[in-house]
Amino acid sequence: MTDLTLGQPPVHAALDFFDDQHPPAGDFLRDVLTGLAATPKSIPPVYFYDAAGSALFDQITDLPEYYVTRTELALLDRIGPELAKRAGPGAVVIEPGSGSSVKIRKLLSALDQPAGYVGLDISGEHLIASCDELARDYPGLHIGAICADFTTGLSLDHLPLPKGRRILFFPGSTIGNFEPDAARAVLASFRKGMREGDAILIGADRVKSPQTLEAAYDDAQGVTAAFNMNLIARINSELDGTLDPALLKHVSVWNAEKSRIEMHLEAREAQQLQVAGRSFSLAKGERLHTENSHKFTPESFQALAESAGFDLLESWSDPAELFSLHWLEPKAKA
Ligand SMILES: C[S@@+](CC[C@H](N)C(=O)[O-])C[C@H]1O[C@@H](n2cnc3c(N)ncnc32)[C@H](O)[C@@H]1O
Repeated sequence: MTDLTLGQPPVHAALDFFDDQHPPAGDFLRDVLTGLAATPKSIPPVYFYDAAGSALFDQITDLPEYYVTRTELALLDRIGPELAKRAGPGAVVIEPGSGSSVKIRKLLSALDQPAGYVGLDISGEHLIASCDELARDYPGLHIGAICADFTTGLSLDHLPLPKGRRILFFPGSTIGNFEPDAARAVLASFRKGMREGDAILIGADRVKSPQTLEAAYDDAQGVTAAFNMNLIARINSELDGTLDPALLKHVSVWNAEKSRIEMHLEAREAQQLQVAGRSFSLAKGERLHTENSHKFTPESFQALAESAGFDLLESWSDPAELFSLHWLEPKAKA
């Protein structure tokens, strides 16, 4: 086990390395103050994922309305042999935004003698717990964890990674959380960190009926609402906020023009609130925009991938065409 956090003792016995790149935490305050002062008001979705938010997200993935996770898992099962062929033997899999590292188990079992796995997430505690568990379950595999912000690119050169072709695994349609320009920038920054012959296996949720989509992001049990409200709990406890969750309601809406589901927190009545000593007001019905989840057609995804410098070599979908996985490789340099 190599703990690359200089000066700190290694604490994650089952991991081969833990690299803390110290993604800036102080920006939460700046981003909330900026978002509350803007019109319309918004908060970036990256702040959903503290330990409580990550646990709520795991519950969402089991909800009957949330088709995304079970569809992608079944698809991974079905196409496993094809993925093994595409990746070849001895691949090293790197997962940006690895969360609970659940889907990776499907991929690791499908691949031909994978050489290693690296989980990368901004939510450090959850990352370590998940990768540590994976390392205990796969004792022969070289497993590491990186606490970092994947939107700033992948910094891998200093890590003790096994040799082998690197496959970036980016499931869950996390790419859909970004506006089109930002999504292109994220993919392009991944490409910069890739070597010739490396590849990306990426999940992308598909355009479908607004009813199905809105229900997936506003379930009957209220778990997605609790996930959205967790932002309010974080602002209150970490940023000295005075937001009253009872005065806000979770809303999910399909924006056809932008091909995305939006999550908002809507003011049930006019209210005043404070964050870190600064005062803000919300009119009745005013919304705090908290997340976008863009949905793709095969054509719109291909256009995104190509604009970020990738060739789309193969795509797979479930029979109902709810969700797709795509295999991308960097375009050959001219
Ligand atoms: C929706 S979960 C997906 C988890 C898993 N890959 C899956 O598909 O089931 C998104 C994960 O990405 C992480 N995440 C979100 N934004 C991130 C960022 N900018 N840098 C690193 N991790 C991020 C969150 O902490 C969370 O664990």
